[in-house]
Amino acid sequence: MATFSRNFPVNCDVDFDTKNVENKTAIVTGGANGLGEAYVRALVAAGATVVIADRDVEAGKRLEEELTGVKFIECNTTNWDDQVHLFEVAASFSPTGKVSFVVANAGIHRKDEVFAYAGDDKVLEKPDLATIDVNLIGSLYTSKLASHYFIKQNGQQPSESQEDTCLILIGSGAAFLDCPRAPQYCATKWAMRGIMHSLRRTAFYYGSRVNVISPWYVKTNILSEEDFAHVTSVGVQFAEASEAGECLLRILNDSTINGRSFFVSGKKWSTRGYLDLDIDDYPGDSLIESIQRDQVKSAPVEMGLFI
Ligand SMILES: NC(=O)c1ccc[n+]([C@@H]2O[C@H](COP(=O)([O-])OP(=O)(O)OC[C@H]3O[C@@H](n4cnc5c(N)ncnc54)[C@H](O)[C@@H]3O)[C@@H](O)[C@H]2O)c1
Repeated sequence: MATFSRNFPVNCDVDFDTKNVENKTAIVTGGANGLGEAYVRALVAAGATVVIADRDVEAGKRLEEELTGVKFIECNTTNWDDQVHLFEVAASFSPTGKVSFVVANAGIHRKDEVFAYAGDDKVLEKPDLATIDVNLIGSLYTSKLASHYFIKQNGQQPSESQEDTCLILIGSGAAFLDCPRAPQYCATKWAMRGIMHSLRRTAFYYGSRVNVISPWYVKTNILSEEDFAHVTSVGVQFAEASEAGECLLRILNDSTINGRSFFVSGKKWSTRGYLDLDIDDYPGDSLIESIQRDQVKSAPVEMGLFI
């Protein structure tokens, strides 16, 4: 049971076993390619059953055929019914009937029409907000369904018999850095931390926890070859998808880790390629502490889960 309390940063420089993941079932949205595929491979290597939800049927089916204990479901995460179906299939595919871990990974990056200038003589058109649809709305649907299944499985009263469950939200450097010219993408990635901040205090009621993984640049299909080549050419060192996979296992295998943001940094900034950013609390800041105390005064967590 991981009640929320302020902790020291999680030490990511340690070996760990993967017992907590063994024989459990996980869902990974956007798991057919890139970082999602790395989460899937890490989970499978640790002995988990994995359900991949993705729009990319070809790549998803290929992974399903290659890996043992993996099921692919065609799913557009912006479609609520698709996600309801995904969770139903995952529960029936799960050897235990339970879904223990959910990684809300599906995400896109587009040229930002909110930022772009239309031109002096152009009629102003409504900006395309697809990034919000996939990265934020899709992740909120995933978060709702994850909580629903976790509560259904574990009940609403904390007890030793509850089995550990965890929701992982996927941020980015854009979840904590200034990333010029990308207000939509940044809004969606900061939002992952917002969701985490809201859920982390009450998740213990249903034996759960919630954390954010924010990857640094990792070469996937999210940007074009040219974009990645340009980033490399200015001297930026990338992280590896496998480091994101290991970071996921580090979090899932320690049931005390709740309410924290991890950065998949690559080896430039950490030994193993990932670290606990320690940015979600303000230790020693008595002003924010005092404001936070007032924030929860009218509806303290102790009053119950649903009030
Ligand atoms: N690669 C990076 O440098 C990087 C950095 C920071 C954060 N991220 C985040 O990591 C996550 C994965 O990105 P990636 O780099 O692996 O990208 P990717 O494009 O290689 O893979 C994304 C996967 O998500 C799927 N997908 C996209 N929209 C979907 C939808 N609506 N429904 C279902 N599936 C959908 C795609 O089909 C694809 O399989 C994203 O949330 C992204 O914002 C990536």
